[in-house]
Amino acid sequence: MKLFEYRRYLTEIDTTSTRHIFTDCLVVGGGIAGFRGAIEAAANCNVMVVCKGSISDSNTWNAQGGIASVLRSDDSFDSHIADTLSAGCGLCDEAIVRQVVQEGPDLVRQLLDWGTEFDKVDGILDVTLEGGHSHARIAHAHGDSTGRGIIEGLVRKIKTISNINVTENFFVIDVITNGDGQCVGAIGRREDGEMEVIWAANTILATGGAGRLYRETTNPKIATADGLAMAFRAGAVLSDLEFMQFHPTTLYIAGASRALITETLRGEGAILLDCEGNAFMKSYHASAELAPRDIVSRAILDRMLKTNTTHVYLDIRHFDKSYFKKRFPLISELCESFDIDVSVDLIPVRPSAHYMLGGIKVDSNAATSIEHLYACGEVTASGLHGANRLGSNSLLEGLVFGKIAGQQASRQSGDAHLRYRKMKYDIPRSDRSRLDADDVRNSLRALMWRNVGITRKDQMLEESQEIIRFWQRYVMDKVFDKPYGWECQNMLTVSLLMAYAAQHRRESRGVHYRNDYPERNDKDFAKHFEVLRK
Ligand code: FUM
Repeated sequence: MKLFEYRRYLTEIDTTSTRHIFTDCLVVGGGIAGFRGAIEAAANCNVMVVCKGSISDSNTWNAQGGIASVLRSDDSFDSHIADTLSAGCGLCDEAIVRQVVQEGPDLVRQLLDWGTEFDKVDGILDVTLEGGHSHARIAHAHGDSTGRGIIEGLVRKIKTISNINVTENFFVIDVITNGDGQCVGAIGRREDGEMEVIWAANTILATGGAGRLYRETTNPKIATADGLAMAFRAGAVLSDLEFMQFHPTTLYIAGASRALITETLRGEGAILLDCEGNAFMKSYHASAELAPRDIVSRAILDRMLKTNTTHVYLDIRHFDKSYFKKRFPLISELCESFDIDVSVDLIPVRPSAHYMLGGIKVDSNAATSIEHLYACGEVTASGLHGANRLGSNSLLEGLVFGKIAGQQASRQSGDAHLRYRKMKYDIPRSDRSRLDADDVRNSLRALMWRNVGITRKDQMLEESQEIIRFWQRYVMDKVFDKPYGWECQNMLTVSLLMAYAAQHRRESRGVHYRNDYPERNDKDFAKHFEVLRK
């Protein structure tokens, strides 16, 4: 366990002048985990869900490929469990893997009942393959808009439940803890700019990931690691922060924002070619295009270096064009918008940051190390993924742990009014120079991509921490009044922890690859790294 020193809250708090409200269960985040948690909690209590952006601004909404679950008779729990454990490279919690895999099919069918239009063929759920899965078990909706389909279904369900209130564009700055270190709610900023304290009997963090800490990413603008940072400031244990998963194939068009090209495309036969037209994956792994993501990402990087290019290509010229359009409508539209005719042209791609495997440490009840604070989904380290994540296991985790968090948080007795406390938190003014937050954010994202990226080594990780600490001196002492500044503080906080964790894992395992320690070292590192605020 490593201790880091930080200010407790990003903002000043004065409960005598700040607007405040009360709820039994506060859910922070509007992805699959947050909404599923809210539905479950609403069976026992009143629930308030706050989303940082609109409901279409989550990683779930953008998820293309699908949700992994055992849905066919030729598949089995044992097979899904074995695949997940094998991807996790020795760091999964087997009991958690079993629990998530076994609860999956019923919860996926429940989504279907609630209105998610999963794709079917001849009336049977269609499932496909992704890397590392030994059976076709990825259910998808609207072709390649699975996340949107799931969120729309959950929102339809939520609209039928009168004791769930959803507020969009509410930026949660910090969770609040009392003198005993228990969570009593959160402070945030409403869309109209007004600050608000939400006192909650129980709070669930489902704030998603940290992809925007990297210059190249599949993640939406909101993924700035806020949940990780606020839990850390509150004193929660964070774990496994060295494990950021990179997705091998993001559309690469200089100047355009990066867009995910789903792995299920490779699951259905897309081939990776280098810029000289050579299919190269077979020379890197027996499973070729369907090798685990870290291997595909590193192979692409290697090809890019060897051929001195910025990208490689996905070849789907052999696909039936009308099938492609129907099965992958989002990607089809995306390619058309850049005049890429997939029956003639290759799709330029390269890897980018995709999914944060580490996070707030939770137990099998989704409980964090702070009383009355629960967490679920990408913001957590639950033990499901270990050092690598199988594609589409994350929506499954959000679904299962969302349900668990909602159940546990609403079962925990508590009256929100008892959480109220008079509170004044002042921050001394600093006369250190002000850095331009925009510049710091861009430079930080470039630094993380360069030095804490797909491959790492000691000197770069050491240097990153020095640079981040330098920026922190001028940013962490300030009091911002807008999300952009708070996000910058959160990004700096979590980036430092990630660089630290990556430096101290002196081995290669799963998504964490060290050029200077290319082998896995079970003797010294078959364990988790945890960090905590001093
Ligand atoms: O490639 C994809 O569709 C991504 C899936 C995932 O990250 O789970």
